[in-house]
Amino acid sequence: MREFRIGIAGLGTVAQGVLGIIAKNGSEIAHRSGVELVVGRIASRSAKPEVDLLGAEFSTNLDDLLQDESLDVLLELIGGEDVAHDFIRKALDLGRPVVTANKAVVAAHGDQLFGANQPVSLRFEAAVAGAIPVIQAIRESLVANRFEHVVGIINGTCNYILTAMRDEGRSFEDALSTAQELGYAEADPTFDVGGIDAAHKLTILLALAFDASFDFSSVHVEGITGITAEDISYADELGYRIKHVGIARRTDKGLEARAHPALIPEDQLLANVNGVLNAVLVKTDAAGNTLFSGPGAGSWATGSAVLADVVATCQEPDAGVRQNSRSDVQRPAILPVEETTCAHYLRIPTRDEPGVFASVAETLSNHGISIEAAIQKQPATTQDIVSIVIVTQPVLESEAAAAVREVEQLDQVVGQVARIRIETL
Ligand code: HSE
Repeated sequence: MREFRIGIAGLGTVAQGVLGIIAKNGSEIAHRSGVELVVGRIASRSAKPEVDLLGAEFSTNLDDLLQDESLDVLLELIGGEDVAHDFIRKALDLGRPVVTANKAVVAAHGDQLFGANQPVSLRFEAAVAGAIPVIQAIRESLVANRFEHVVGIINGTCNYILTAMRDEGRSFEDALSTAQELGYAEADPTFDVGGIDAAHKLTILLALAFDASFDFSSVHVEGITGITAEDISYADELGYRIKHVGIARRTDKGLEARAHPALIPEDQLLANVNGVLNAVLVKTDAAGNTLFSGPGAGSWATGSAVLADVVATCQEPDAGVRQNSRSDVQRPAILPVEETTCAHYLRIPTRDEPGVFASVAETLSNHGISIEAAIQKQPATTQDIVSIVIVTQPVLESEAAAAVREVEQLDQVVGQVARIRIETL
């Protein structure tokens, strides 16, 4: 048994989870792993007298952590991008092992942080899917495999909102405000509902599973703000659930990398992952399909992943050199979203006039798009407007987008067409 001193940057939700778990399970961690954790120092913008710091020194200066050479591991739990990145960079340059939960920093700066000359380890299990050990699974447990796809529900806020919209028939705004009241969504929910948080996580999964660069800009991003209760109800009727998914997939043309809402057939596992839960479906050549599911956020759930990294770092402080070194790797090309192929759900608001369905069908047909299923109903509220809902057969994204633009120009079409991709896994 050896004592290790940790220093924590930040005193928010995740840091408090780490402290709570050490207070409760510290002796068990030591007994199991031989690593006795002592919280030596904490630095954060503001003090929180209500939080038990477990005897750690406290200051508001991050440099105090960097200068305290008695600390064996530094935990970056500040969040945000610039200050956190600066702290991690300085710590690594000083030769200090770091554990972070920061997906934005890893997604934007991973290539530099894990460069060939990286002197010490930087671990980041908590950055993707909270408590779920998916980073370890991809990097270690499935190391013998060639990855075919990694597809996940990786934003708990979106999943909570879409589940509440379906189960309780609520609008997006209403479900979002409940998510905020329950602490599932931030006061500023833009990163979550805009798909950016999921795209950060997908960037990391892409890099690990497919040796892609940590290049957030290569991921196609859409959020859930345009999803209506009407779409959820039509999707149900057609046998699908709407989920926000991150998709990394190897194809003959290149790697697909996209984070957006999608209709998933209701009998598939991912369609039934509800509420704030996350799930990641991994398909590889040797192991086949594996599914990882669990809480993707929350103080203790994320703290659990952080502490797994802390213990691993204490046991093998320089393992990151081997595991993270990313030089001499042939980077696969990311396929522009326009060149991907998907079936689509289209909801087309039209005037209730003879011939309108035929005009829509003809326009789609002119773009080589076949119709798989269609529904037309008259909503009770707007008597002169009907929604034509169409499920297409798989079609090239650029062709689907062009067809929708043309449909929107038809005289009888009275607003924007809702277009949501369909993913069959
Ligand atoms: N805000 C994230 C989510 C959790 O809702 O999944 C932290 O990544």
